[in-house]
Amino acid sequence: PRVAIVFGGRSSEHGISVVTAGSVLRAIDRSKYEVLPIGITHEGRWALVGDEPSRMAITDRQLPDVDGVAESTEGQITLPSNPTSREVVWSEPGAAPKVLGEVDVVLPLLHGPWGEDGTIQGLLELSGVPYVGSGVLASAAGMDKEFTKRILESHGIGVGSYTVVRPREWETETGRAAARERIAALGLPLFVKPCRAGSSMGISKVKDLADLDAAMDEARRHDPKVIVELGVQGREIECGVLEFEDGPKASLPAEVLIDGDFEFYDFEAKYIDSSEVQIPARLTERETAEIRRQAVLAFDALGCEGLARVDFFLLPDGSWIVNEINTMPGFTPISAYPKMWEATGLPYPELIDRLLTAALN
Ligand code: DAL
Ligand code: MG
Repeated sequence: PRVAIVFGGRSSEHGISVVTAGSVLRAIDRSKYEVLPIGITHEGRWALVGDEPSRMAITDRQLPDVDGVAESTEGQITLPSNPTSREVVWSEPGAAPKVLGEVDVVLPLLHGPWGEDGTIQGLLELSGVPYVGSGVLASAAGMDKEFTKRILESHGIGVGSYTVVRPREWETETGRAAARERIAALGLPLFVKPCRAGSSMGISKVKDLADLDAAMDEARRHDPKVIVELGVQGREIECGVLEFEDGPKASLPAEVLIDGDFEFYDFEAKYIDSSEVQIPARLTERETAEIRRQAVLAFDALGCEGLARVDFFLLPDGSWIVNEINTMPGFTPISAYPKMWEATGLPYPELIDRLLTAALN
């Protein structure tokens, strides 16, 4: 089958998506799949780019981007064993479905808004092209930290204390005063987050309310809708969920061990300084069984399909809360999702094969 691997995109996680795609391009079984790498630039233009995983990695602490990958082939398409050579160079977003019509399945390796949030899923639904992962609603709900929490809460899954500051509210004096009051009532420390973003982009930890406005400004640079959460004392544990013929199953969990130099698992700690992820997490059998149960529950509560990574905190009293769900988790060389599945007995190439097979059937 012919697979379009779509990566990059307009979100602030563009670079991470390129790294994710680079790892998948290295791992995918070429004897089985014909691969079409399609990059989306920061501006949202689509291009069939060279199949060059070596240019799709973090080098010298710098993230790659689609322009850099495309440059290597001067924007020309390389169609592997192409039956009818075509001259597509750059395509505007509206023309993309036409290009994609010639593939059997799309692997949308996009993180963040305009990709992981139901938008490309909608485009693919309209085009009638099968794709890997969650559909429109689960993708949109998983991208929005407010709706994720609302859905999980309504299914009896634990979430932390939070309040949402809507775009208009922060723009008026009275709105701001009301928001500040709700935020102050949460306690400290706080995490101020863009409601719809990923990879810890735009997130600040606030230990003093005097720093709140600056944190709000930072979050609002990524999304005008902001979620403010009460920080919790707990262990940060993640669990992968993958859909099999007989339903979704959870991987062995991983624990994030953050270097003491970092206040939280921020972007630098995640990708540049590569915090350690311990797999499997050191948990009792009972705790492991419980997180795996809750991860599948959360997956089903949102109506996810294919795959997701569910991120939890294990609180000192032994209870769990879900921090967030990623419907297209990172697949970079240091990402937990593929590593957790490897530890559970599913090697990286087989994981990709399983995702594609499920989407094709
Ligand atoms: N949002 C990043 C890519 C992750 O969850 O892995
Ligand atoms: Mg995330």
